[in-house]
Amino acid sequence: MNRQIPKISSADFSALISGKKKKEITHLALPVTNNDGIEIAVSQSLKREIEKTFKISLTDELAKVGPAFTGKVAEILEIPLLGDEKKVSRIYCVGIGERSPQDLRKAGAALGRKVKASNAQLLTLCPSDESNALTHLVAMALGSYSWSEKSGPQPETPSFLISDSYRRVLKKAEVLISGTWRTRDLVHTPANIATPEWISGQAKRFGKIPNVSIKVLSGQGLREFGGLKAVGNSSTVHPPRFVRVSYQPKARTSPHVVLVGKGITFDTGGVSLKRPYDVMMGMKSDMSGAAAALMTVVSAAELKLPVRVTALLMLAENALSGTSQRPSDVIKHYGGTTVEVINTDAEGRLVLADGLAYADKHLDPDYLIDIATLTGAATLGLSRYYGAMYTRDEKLAKNLNRVGDFIGERVWHMPLVDDYSIALESDVADFNHTADKFAFQGGSITAALFLEKFVGKRRWVHLDIAGPARSENDAGENPKGGTGFGVRLLTEWLTTL
Ligand code: BES
Ligand code: MN
Ligand code: ZN
Repeated sequence: MNRQIPKISSADFSALISGKKKKEITHLALPVTNNDGIEIAVSQSLKREIEKTFKISLTDELAKVGPAFTGKVAEILEIPLLGDEKKVSRIYCVGIGERSPQDLRKAGAALGRKVKASNAQLLTLCPSDESNALTHLVAMALGSYSWSEKSGPQPETPSFLISDSYRRVLKKAEVLISGTWRTRDLVHTPANIATPEWISGQAKRFGKIPNVSIKVLSGQGLREFGGLKAVGNSSTVHPPRFVRVSYQPKARTSPHVVLVGKGITFDTGGVSLKRPYDVMMGMKSDMSGAAAALMTVVSAAELKLPVRVTALLMLAENALSGTSQRPSDVIKHYGGTTVEVINTDAEGRLVLADGLAYADKHLDPDYLIDIATLTGAATLGLSRYYGAMYTRDEKLAKNLNRVGDFIGERVWHMPLVDDYSIALESDVADFNHTADKFAFQGGSITAALFLEKFVGKRRWVHLDIAGPARSENDAGENPKGGTGFGVRLLTEWLTTL
């Protein structure tokens, strides 16, 4: 299994640097700015203290590298310290730009990458306030993430320290790190292991957190879930599951936030098989929405937030088999709406529709949010750094937008274009599910319009995270593969309610 999640803590840094405290650090990160000249952005007295302790001149070191080091955001100058008895082996001078939460996040990710898979104890002197201390710390830990099922000794785990003055952000940082980390682990775990049953088993383990309860439905329990069954019964070996994870703080019952996550453990496309076949390789990550929804509830519980949060995980494999659904099938969703199936590769909206209708009928949500790797069209439009956000509530959109910019999981407010709704017409059922009538294109928008048919009168947000849920390269905060997108955004947003 995976190695441990990096530990974070705070310390009195001058005691640490001078070696008066026992706790040893191995790496020290210093902030660098470049406004008409590179500068180590710490106080003169601290700079002197560092120089004295490590017997170096930072000015000389900067002069030595010359123009090769520009000090731009996240660029790192490495100063090895030879033969130092205090165990600190390296100083990293890192560009921190404008010292915004965004820039400190980038700097943090670069530092995290430097000490990835090592037992480094890195103390950073970069943050200048609590906001950027939070994003910096989270990015350092997440930048050091990697995943593998290689046999043999497991890689080591670094730890990260910040100044005591920001210790108040530690708890939140720890929760955001572990929430995102575990989401990534779930997403990276391949579909032969991460089956609907296995994921529901993972979810059950969180049932021991105070005020968290879990309910799992399978087999006959899914009678009314026509969409989840139509998709998930394509696999008789890994049949579908519906998982409800609730966090209910004792003191408060409102607002109630319900998160519905797309949990397709593998998306072959079904009978409408995905082509070319290599686009299937990434499809173990088609449960990223469910993983993020699960870990958001867990995060809310760990932070003891005064909001009630429920996640509905719609877990199914979209397989190609003798029990797969067919194009032209008509299915009956939770609540009775009938839908004509066109392309079996548009399976996500079918499982979400049941979850949304279930939430509307039974859970009385104040906010109903679905999160899903839903359409290739969303990625075409926004690429990897923005999720597509749909909602009729402008204020809510603005808030999610602001939170996303701050925490580093950005969303773009997309239009629910009513003129395109006629695309959903069907001759034989209430709707056709791929919204392909009249060839409007705009696949992410029409998918959102389809989902809206199942949310009743709820205040609803749809997050199409097909782009940002997966990273195609190993860079910045993200490993190649699952990014854990959504946990930070939704958890931070919950703290604003
Ligand atoms: N899971 C895919 C969407 C996807 C594609 C996510 C690429 C991440 C990367 C989804 O189930 C799908 O296949 N959508 C189709 C819908 C179409 C058939 C209407 C798509 O976007 O092509
Ligand atoms: Mn699909
Ligand atoms: Zn899919």
